[in-house]
Amino acid sequence: MSIRYFEEEKKFVLSTDSTEYVLQMMKDRFPVHRYYGKKGGEVPEWKGRVVSNSPYYEGAKEYSPDVLSMETSFFGSGDFRATALRLCGEDGTGVTEFAYRSFRIFPGRKTPEGLPCARAGEDTETLELCFEDEVTGCRLLLLYTVFERDNAISRSLTLENHGKAPVTIEKCMPLQLDLPGHSYHMLALHGMHNYENNVERFPVHYGIQSVSSRRGSTSHQHNSFFALCGEKTTETEGEAFGFHFVYSGSFLDEVEVDPLGNTRVLVGLGSENFAYTLMPGESFDSPEALMTYSREGLGGMSRNYHRFIRHSILPKESVELPHPVVLNSWEAVYFNIDQELLLKFAEEAKDLGMDMLVMDDGWFGARNADNAGLGDWFVNKSKFPDGLKAFADGIHRRGVKFGIWIEPEMINPDSDLYRAHPEWCLSVPGREAKRSRNQLVLDMSNPAVFDYLTGCFEETFRGVSIDYFKWDFNRDLSDICSRYETTAGQKAVPFLYMKGVYRLLSWFRQHFPEAIIETCAGGGGRYDLAMMTFGFQIWTSDMISPYRRLRIQYGALLGYPAATMSCHVGKPAEATEHAFDFRFKVACAGMLGYEFDVRKLPDDCREVLRSHIASYRRFEHVMRRGDYYPLVSPFTHDYSAYYYLSEDRKEILLTVVEQEGCKKGQTKRLRVVDALPDAVYKDEKTGASYTGRELRKGLVLPLTGERETAILLELRAL
Ligand code: DGJ
Repeated sequence: MSIRYFEEEKKFVLSTDSTEYVLQMMKDRFPVHRYYGKKGGEVPEWKGRVVSNSPYYEGAKEYSPDVLSMETSFFGSGDFRATALRLCGEDGTGVTEFAYRSFRIFPGRKTPEGLPCARAGEDTETLELCFEDEVTGCRLLLLYTVFERDNAISRSLTLENHGKAPVTIEKCMPLQLDLPGHSYHMLALHGMHNYENNVERFPVHYGIQSVSSRRGSTSHQHNSFFALCGEKTTETEGEAFGFHFVYSGSFLDEVEVDPLGNTRVLVGLGSENFAYTLMPGESFDSPEALMTYSREGLGGMSRNYHRFIRHSILPKESVELPHPVVLNSWEAVYFNIDQELLLKFAEEAKDLGMDMLVMDDGWFGARNADNAGLGDWFVNKSKFPDGLKAFADGIHRRGVKFGIWIEPEMINPDSDLYRAHPEWCLSVPGREAKRSRNQLVLDMSNPAVFDYLTGCFEETFRGVSIDYFKWDFNRDLSDICSRYETTAGQKAVPFLYMKGVYRLLSWFRQHFPEAIIETCAGGGGRYDLAMMTFGFQIWTSDMISPYRRLRIQYGALLGYPAATMSCHVGKPAEATEHAFDFRFKVACAGMLGYEFDVRKLPDDCREVLRSHIASYRRFEHVMRRGDYYPLVSPFTHDYSAYYYLSEDRKEILLTVVEQEGCKKGQTKRLRVVDALPDAVYKDEKTGASYTGRELRKGLVLPLTGERETAILLELRAL
């Protein structure tokens, strides 16, 4: 039992393998947060508080919503901190007051309607708290789902309108966590296209600090994952809380330090890009937000999430099966593809030991550049005169699998689809819709668009043997207006858009059950847990410089496991063995692929590539299923160090990468703390061996100070 209820105190204790979360219902009105931390930790004694100026109910002065640590908060109720929930009913005030009614504990979870969420396992249990607001007639269900084994707790909510008038949800933040004190650092990931996942760490300050996306996608600019940690927390020591949102559209993460010096965390849809009107009798399910806690530093927090994502988010095959080593046509030839060229690529891929040829953009409609064709999902006959089926068969006959690129959510104004249905794109009547990469966005909330797309794909892919879809998304949402919605419903369009995308992704999973999906949004623009429930992996950034990728990958690994990261080797300026070796060692943090014109590969590099792929195959499972231990961050040092440890702890993949300008010398002591102490580990390449005890004490490795230098130790216990 991971959820226990103590009747006398009206207290709920949610336990995971190594954490505990405690809340208490006070005065039948206040869901008070009591504790979140290590299991068995001391729950601080509760003391009522009286602060001048703080609003309270008559006779309950020490329960002012202004100063209590609360499990959720309502706008206008006397809690002046950032609000979790703002609803506007008939009276137009936005004020609500939900009174506690009942609770339910049940095995498994409630699945939010039309939204992706974590899979329940045998260790999963849910607490549902029910509240009612008498004036609007709304019922609020707060849901806590506990994933015991992997130390994750999810928060979501359901609102039901049992009243007589419409109610509009104006702000919705399903996760609220009120923490004592404010001695925290916040870590968040920011950047832009080609430059994602820069890690910023800063002390939280009084007032609100927030990270958000208002772009209709989780975005390159700000990832929805963030962490709070102790001021002294390092990669390996100290406490850390991590937060995720299982949603791919605009989001808001808020952290507020109140004047009494306590910290409130909120995660959700925010209010700027979201509002949703519930008619009488209707209900609304929010996406879920997740939290985890570790005392083993940032690495411990990351490992909690990595395990959780592997077990409960990623499609099972993404964890259980080796990921194919792909050759992707994009960086090699961009739009200049045709059947002859790609069949040649497939032969080369086979010769080098790769598993799959991915045909990227350019195979459909009049798609010869980025200004035309999106929306016309019919094969371009001049590039593929024998048709898609014959071409896919040809790829398979050459001994590799076949992957194909699509970008279903988009439309070029220069397309047959736009000429037939200009009203199907997001655009405001009377205003010019802004283009980005020469494209507009289809209104995915419109069922006619869903029908058109599924009809097209069904026809075009009928009988074609497709092993892999690369699902792209190359611009954010502006001019958000759906011609299908009423005026009153427009504010809900960004949310309904995302539901439309999830519906189409589900359709693909059902119609092509054998095919795997790699998601991509100009690289890492939609790197989030919701996308991961459909996708096998995500193309982590369009950037192919190994130095930049090193940081992008390090940032991504803070919140996401290696199995989610496509790490491709791009063409070095000078195609030397050394340059390929460096790129390979950097790419060996996730799932390997290649993107360059293989026809131009010098002969002396071929054998090197083959040996890389062979060595990757030996250790791929350690990254895909094993644990990740960051040791030295490239954001704070001139080199980076980390290792992966297999589930049985018998295999270790330890990497040190020197950044540009790295000083010659020694690394810090790189401690493999979970190596088996009595084992002797041997490096597959050099034959050098180390005892487990030596590894636990730490290796000090030489830094050369030379360009493009990395060490990759492939250690296996004898
Ligand atoms: C952006 C992706 O990230 C690239 O890999 C490639 O697929 C292009 N789009 C194609 O337009």
